[in-house]
Amino acid sequence: MDPAAPPSRPVSEPVGSKTTKQTVIAVRRWTASLCSLRVTRDPAFRFTAGHYARLGLADAGGTVVTRPMSIASAPFQPHLDFLCTLVEGGELSSRLATCAPGDAAWIDRASYGFLTLPGVAPGPDLWMLATGTGIAPFLAMLEEPATWSRFERIVVVLSVRHADELASADAVAAFERDPSTAPGPARLAFLPVVTREPGATRLARRIPEMLEDGTLADAANLPIDVARSRVLTCGNPAMAREVRRILSARGFATARRATPGTMLFENYWHDRGAVVAVQEAPPPTA
Ligand SMILES: Cc1cc2nc3c(=O)[nH]c(=O)nc-3n(C[C@H](O)[C@H](O)[C@H](O)COP(=O)(O)OP(=O)(O)OC[C@H]3O[C@@H](n4cnc5c(N)ncnc54)[C@H](O)[C@@H]3O)c2cc1C
Ligand SMILES: NC(=O)c1ccc[n+]([C@@H]2O[C@H](COP(=O)([O-])OP(=O)(O)OC[C@H]3O[C@@H](n4cnc5c(N)ncnc54)[C@H](OP(=O)(O)O)[C@@H]3O)[C@@H](O)[C@H]2O)c1
Repeated sequence: MDPAAPPSRPVSEPVGSKTTKQTVIAVRRWTASLCSLRVTRDPAFRFTAGHYARLGLADAGGTVVTRPMSIASAPFQPHLDFLCTLVEGGELSSRLATCAPGDAAWIDRASYGFLTLPGVAPGPDLWMLATGTGIAPFLAMLEEPATWSRFERIVVVLSVRHADELASADAVAAFERDPSTAPGPARLAFLPVVTREPGATRLARRIPEMLEDGTLADAANLPIDVARSRVLTCGNPAMAREVRRILSARGFATARRATPGTMLFENYWHDRGAVVAVQEAPPPTA
């Protein structure tokens, strides 16, 4: 083999029409286990705020691993943002740990998911309940003026283990601090929850517990009832399972057939303790 010849493409690189090769533009490391990734966007890539992409990164040997990843940027933006957690021993996580601007990233041509506002029934109040990186699809929705003109009140609840992880939701806190920077007229309340640093936030217990005993409603000064509230939940599947149980008992329902939902869920991994779908089933066509 000619030593001057360029290296051949790694055999595991995704090929064919399903995916496009993009470039990492920026990496921001919020903590040792949380980073944001900005990636170039294929001009033909279309998505709805709340969708996820399939993101692939290569290791040093060129082997690409692909995982679902919620898109944290808005559809009108020219790039794609992702908010990623690094889990110990995770295959994508090990690539995210060393990923740098200029690296290649592979993005499926299609976007996926049902955690989107078109699937939500009319109502004045939007609740966004997230754990960890589950805030990502909500960041995308909150960039869109349509979200802010459709609802009167928006409440964002983000539960993280440690206070430094809240930095990833700075944009949400800023909308609350200075409503003039918000893309539309709705009033937003941000309820940060730090669960492993007593005193870091006013709210410190897990989301389902505070939903059930009325703490979240009190903190937002807004009742949570099926007549007015629309609840989106994203992140830890055990959290989602509990939220679903609590809201179902109050008459909330997921989307069915042509009927939009009063509660929608996206789970980030399989919950071995319960029978729940990773994704809501698509509303069947009539
Ligand atoms: C629809 C969908 C959207 C997703 N969006 C995101 C996203 O926006 N950001 C993101 O970081 N991950 C997201 N994930 C999870 C992501 O696909 C990977 O699982 C994650 O990047 C870790 O990949 P891995 O190969 O390192 O480990 P994996 O082998 O995929 O996961 C190992 C374990 O790590 C834990 N874990 C995985 N993801 C998370 C997470 N986000 N927060 C806390 N614990 C986790 C779970 O216990 C999981 O079983 C999403 C998953 C789904 C199904
Ligand atoms: N966050 C970190 O500091 C950190 C550091 C190193 C590695 N990691 C890796 O990242 C992964 C976890 O990341 P993460 O902290 O973003 O996700 P997470 O474990 O899902 O925790 C995020 C938030 O969800 C809460 N939560 C967990 N289970 C819940 C349930 N059943 N019901 C309601 N709320 C629940 C947590 O509260 P509790 O605190 O009460 O659990 C925390 O506030 C782990 O696999 C770990 O290896 C995280």
